[in-house]
Amino acid sequence: MKSAEQKAFRFPLTDVHCHILPGVDDGASSMEVTAGMLEQAYRDGIRTMIVTPHFRMGMFETPGTCIREAFRETEAYAQAHFPEMKLVLGCEFHAFSEMEEALKANPRFRLGGAYRVLLEFSGGDTPSYIRDRVLAAQRTGCRVIIAHAERYAAIQQEESLLRDLVRMGAEIQVNADSLLGFDGWGIKRFSGKLLEKGLVSYIGSDAHNTTNRPNRLAECARYVEKKYGPGAAERIFSENPETLLRAVLRTQG
Ligand SMILES: [Fe+2]
Repeated sequence: MKSAEQKAFRFPLTDVHCHILPGVDDGASSMEVTAGMLEQAYRDGIRTMIVTPHFRMGMFETPGTCIREAFRETEAYAQAHFPEMKLVLGCEFHAFSEMEEALKANPRFRLGGAYRVLLEFSGGDTPSYIRDRVLAAQRTGCRVIIAHAERYAAIQQEESLLRDLVRMGAEIQVNADSLLGFDGWGIKRFSGKLLEKGLVSYIGSDAHNTTNRPNRLAECARYVEKKYGPGAAERIFSENPETLLRAVLRTQG
């Protein structure tokens, strides 16, 4: 498989899911790693990154002040070295039972503070729990994007669950690594099936570093274009992220 570092994709890419902030979760461990990740993303033609540090009760509860500080540092570095790169502060928000209040009250759990949430589940969560938590997020006024939906057993076993979630208004994000086969053949095949059926709105890198979980978004965009056609690539890597960004930036402006 060719390296994602070979050339930029033919149009500017937006990464909607990545862990580039230094020292806030299991993503970039230092500013040096962050700088490497930004450089790689820039070289690959990524021009907008929604940075999505984890929030997960009992596991990743980095205070908002630390997140904002890490974001400011990262943004300053990006502006100095890659002035065309735009960063938006988001969050990968892990669902929990009492989450409604947190999601409503705290813009840091949403994407750019807009009413959009990148909602993560545990691998073994049940269909009824997933449905219920999506509805809970929607009650806060949020539009839900389900993070790496292809990785949950409930969705793998019951594709109708995914269709229900989409019917309920949720959008589906799949990881570049899943579709490219880095997480195994089964996940690759399943991700491809979701894409073929038009159920995927976004593909994100979910990059954590430059070594074992690098940014393969451009590589994935080339793969999607070749296998599913330019229309699919444009919809997933350009039109949908741009619509999302417009909503997010409207809130910020
Ligand atoms: Fe993630």
